Amino acid sequence: MAYNSFPPKPLSSAEYQREQVLNWLAENVPQSRTQHILRVEKMAMQLAQQHHLDVHKAATAGLLHDLAKYFLPTRLLEMAEAAKLELTAVDLANPHLLHADISAIIAAEEFGVTDPEILQAIANHTLGKPGMDQLSCVVFLADSVEPGRGNHPQLEAIRKICVLNLYQAVWMTCDRTLSHLLATGALMHPRMVLTRNWALQMSPAQSSQKPQVAAAH
Ligand SMILES: [Fe+2]
Ligand SMILES: [Fe+2]
Repeated sequence: MAYNSFPPKPLSSAEYQREQVLNWLAENVPQSRTQHILRVEKMAMQLAQQHHLDVHKAATAGLLHDLAKYFLPTRLLEMAEAAKLELTAVDLANPHLLHADISAIIAAEEFGVTDPEILQAIANHTLGKPGMDQLSCVVFLADSVEPGRGNHPQLEAIRKICVLNLYQAVWMTCDRTLSHLLATGALMHPRMVLTRNWALQMSPAQSSQKPQVAAAH
């Protein structure tokens, strides 16, 4: 043992909490998912730094975003009902979508997180939410564009936009997901459509090009 590692340095509260979370993840999610989570943590920190946001909050939300990823649908529904979450028909058909909101509940209950921005960023990581703050945008984007998601040209384009404008990157990410759902005949969650419209209107790319409103027939 090297001289400088003994006696062991006491862990700071942030290090202690991270170690606790890593131990919990080792018990509750597969190793491959933990790798994704660590990439999201890192990417969220990078984006937070680039956008002058709180890097520690971004890291914490990134580390905690998928706590409930492997909860069974029955458990997700039970917890959502207990928390009085408003459930749509799409949530009932696909309870997995609730893992974001439930992860925020676990973060509070299991790890004592009380910061509302961090809890919201965890809860918003899958579907977003109209009006969400920039920390939520960062975690939503980090989850979608972390390096493990591949190198599709559309994804590479979004990665570049992430640095320039968070809102534009959010609507592009929503469009990518929604296009995939349309192409595969899958259900769309109304919250993602609302997130997409909000982010589109927030995006400066739209200032010279007013959002088109589809004609009603
Ligand atoms: Fe997730
Ligand atoms: Fe994730």
